[in-house]
Amino acid sequence: MTERPPVVSHVAPLDAAAVRQDFPIFRRQIHDRPLAYLDNASTTHKPQAVIDRIVRFYSEENANVHRGLHQLSQQATAAYEGAREAVRRFINAPLARDIVFTRGTTESINLVAHAYGGSHVGPNDEIVISALEHHSNIVPWQIVCEQRGSRLRVIPVSDEGELDLGAYERMLNDRTRFVSIAHVSNALGTVNEVRRVVALAHERGVPTLVDGAQAVAHMRVDVQELGADFYAFSGHKMLGPTGIGVLYGRSSLLEAMPPYQSGGEMISAVSFEKTTYQPPPHRFEAGTPAIADAVGLAAAVGYLEALDLNAVAQLERDRLASATAALSSIPGLRIVGTARDKAGILSFVLAGVHPHDVASILDREGVAVRAGHHCCQPLMARLGLQATVRASLAVYTTEEEIDALAAGLHRVRGIFK
Ligand SMILES: Cc1ncc(COP(=O)(O)O)c(C=O)c1O
Repeated sequence: MTERPPVVSHVAPLDAAAVRQDFPIFRRQIHDRPLAYLDNASTTHKPQAVIDRIVRFYSEENANVHRGLHQLSQQATAAYEGAREAVRRFINAPLARDIVFTRGTTESINLVAHAYGGSHVGPNDEIVISALEHHSNIVPWQIVCEQRGSRLRVIPVSDEGELDLGAYERMLNDRTRFVSIAHVSNALGTVNEVRRVVALAHERGVPTLVDGAQAVAHMRVDVQELGADFYAFSGHKMLGPTGIGVLYGRSSLLEAMPPYQSGGEMISAVSFEKTTYQPPPHRFEAGTPAIADAVGLAAAVGYLEALDLNAVAQLERDRLASATAALSSIPGLRIVGTARDKAGILSFVLAGVHPHDVASILDREGVAVRAGHHCCQPLMARLGLQATVRASLAVYTTEEEIDALAAGLHRVRGIFK
């Protein structure tokens, strides 16, 4: 059984062309053509509301947070801590103090791997990940395994791009100490059955991390419903700024974790004999945080909430269906990743044409896609590929952009026939 998105009966459909008006970047042309931006899994564009909020912060509220007694500092602190509360509400975390601001998904996963893994995983213990992970959910765990003498286990993936959960269940044993998997595959678009993955781990008392980098801007995420102990994501992939990300962590686990980085902000008292630390989340936010970016992230959260994540998911499902149909009619094109439950990511190869050539020719047509291994080299190796072309969608993706992609691919076919 795959986990289907909730059946949505009463969300008003969104008009991507209207949403697009909020994003100033779409006013520019690329190679004298309208921009067809299909590289949203790499990073999304920013609505005017997010840009304005960052400008307002620097123009009117800028100060360092937490230690200041002056008014500006208090306002900046209120804005920063307000952003934490906005993120809590967005993912329905129980408490604002369960939200740690990081630089992005990569830092969030490193934090858990090193602070939790480094103190709870020992020789011969096992950490479980999957074959479709992004490098940022592989390498930190590999390093922990090297340092602690532990073993990395990998849930296999089918040719269609679905995880083999039977193999996963058999993999879990009394040496399993942690499970870390993606919510949505950035290379194939597979929506993993994370609720089931988490539940099976919990039956054995094993904590879990879900990498939500490709999920939060595309579907409603409720960390309590998912049951995950940690949930990681990046601001820049959800219409927010670069340089800011989130780690949600279950209070009891965060409290039991030692610091990740150290210095100012994360201490309670320092002497040369002994230093004591702040409780979470400040224990994990050493140094001056990305204040303006956190505030900008809160504006992105507000923007997405106003659109309604269920409506966003519906729009992207419709767009994925038409893109899949359009691409399927192109001779020699093979879609890579045909899981039953997919988010708006389409990977493909074109017979006889290198993915980089496909992407370069599309670029001349104003169509931005990504070509490469998508930071998933082990997945590419499993599928017997070096690279794919990837078109990835967002709430502002229009049918015209899908048409431009299909027309561009027909042109590529014409050139390489
Ligand atoms: C599934 C997944 N995990 C992690 C990351 C890393 O995100 P960031 O580079 O924002 O830290 C990405 C980025 O593409 C991703 O798609």
